[in-house]
Amino acid sequence: MQADIRIDISRAKSAAVGKEHGITPAEFQAIEPRVLEIHKILQQERKDKAYGFYDLHKDKDTLNAVKVAAEKYAAFGYENLVVLGIGGSALGITALNTALNPPYYNLLTKRGRKGFPRLFVMDNIDPVTFRAMLRLCPPQKTLYNVISKSGGTAETMSQLMIVLEILESKLGKEKVKDHLIVTTSPQGPNAPKSLLHPVAKAYGLDSFDIPLNVGGRFSVFTPVGLLPAALIGLDIDEMLAGCAAMDKRCSAGSLMDNPAYLRAAVHYMMDKEKGKVMSVMMPYVDGLRDVADWYRQLWAESLGKKFSLDGEEVYAGQTPIKALGATDQQSQVQLFREGPNDKIFTTLEAGRFDKTLKIPANLTDIKDLDYLRGASMNKLMTAELVGTLDALKASLRPAIRVILPKVNAHSVGQLLYMLEVETAMAGRLYNVNTFDQPGVEEGKIIARRLMGGQG
Ligand code: PA5
Repeated sequence: MQADIRIDISRAKSAAVGKEHGITPAEFQAIEPRVLEIHKILQQERKDKAYGFYDLHKDKDTLNAVKVAAEKYAAFGYENLVVLGIGGSALGITALNTALNPPYYNLLTKRGRKGFPRLFVMDNIDPVTFRAMLRLCPPQKTLYNVISKSGGTAETMSQLMIVLEILESKLGKEKVKDHLIVTTSPQGPNAPKSLLHPVAKAYGLDSFDIPLNVGGRFSVFTPVGLLPAALIGLDIDEMLAGCAAMDKRCSAGSLMDNPAYLRAAVHYMMDKEKGKVMSVMMPYVDGLRDVADWYRQLWAESLGKKFSLDGEEVYAGQTPIKALGATDQQSQVQLFREGPNDKIFTTLEAGRFDKTLKIPANLTDIKDLDYLRGASMNKLMTAELVGTLDALKASLRPAIRVILPKVNAHSVGQLLYMLEVETAMAGRLYNVNTFDQPGVEEGKIIARRLMGGQG
């Protein structure tokens, strides 16, 4: 039995940071009926399958198909897995890899990687980076997974075109199917056209579906995240078990007992009532640094909307900021403590690190180092975390602590699932469409036109 992640909102309450900056009991009471009403709407929409992200952890067929593919491609013994994708097609697997593989995973020997390939997530079109990846990943030793829900994103398609030419010229057209997997929207009468479908057909590629009712930034538990995760040996069963455990907690029609609703309501009230227009996510675990990046997209693209669901101009959204403890204590914390009091903080913490590292009892002549001698990095990290939290509190800056018992597939599954449900609740509180991104689409269309293509 795996332990639950813990949410501590005490430092976001008025009792901790005062009425001006913290939520009062009366404010919690006032928002509760609205949360409960939205809960009913979301549950109904879930039943109606308007959003598929809620139930992905129950999809055994996809899980099995992913496992079969992972086994098939493992037999090739590839040295590299390269994901071609951007935004929601890239950030999830990056977060999972950083959280669940050892640090510097790509620098380990194949044995150190337990025989699994290195992972390169190509989420940009900088020619210098892309060329460097191509140099590091010879086609014979490399498996590509091109991921695009729309199957038309210029960045991803340009990467694919470059890779295809190399695979074809170096290995021959017949071999391409052993080196390239497609993940995109399904084919069907009601499905939008994905340009990856004809590619998969022409080369006979294995192709995985992203359900139509799951948006890019909510797709980490579809084959978008699951397939590359399985290909690099992550425990996707445990991850999905973590989602299931969190689903139970997040299905509660309750403000105080549903961690996702509680966090959503606190963030919303902080923005609307207390002027906290920014949400800082600050993991105190290196492995969770890219979860903050993934969350940044989820929060920004889902809530940053010009129009409300009623068509009014609202310019909603809270700006997400990512930080890393203790590193950014020496970078952003000066601003966080003494700059404008317009942020709410979330620390992501590990109840326990996988490893302990003692600080040796040396440099004995230097008295000022007495406090470090014989201590551990673990203890120092905790002291830095609590020090920063207390300093924030002293400056009346509200914070929520999210404590993972231990960073593993189960707890990371719980965490990402909770943040997704939280975003769905927050979108409704803001009364915006959480699941579209018209602002992104417009930029994509203009860029295509500038390249001489059709809008
Ligand atoms: O959340 C979203 O829908 C976006 O961030 C997309 O993931 C991103 O634009 C990439 O789109 P696609 O997967 O269609 O290439």
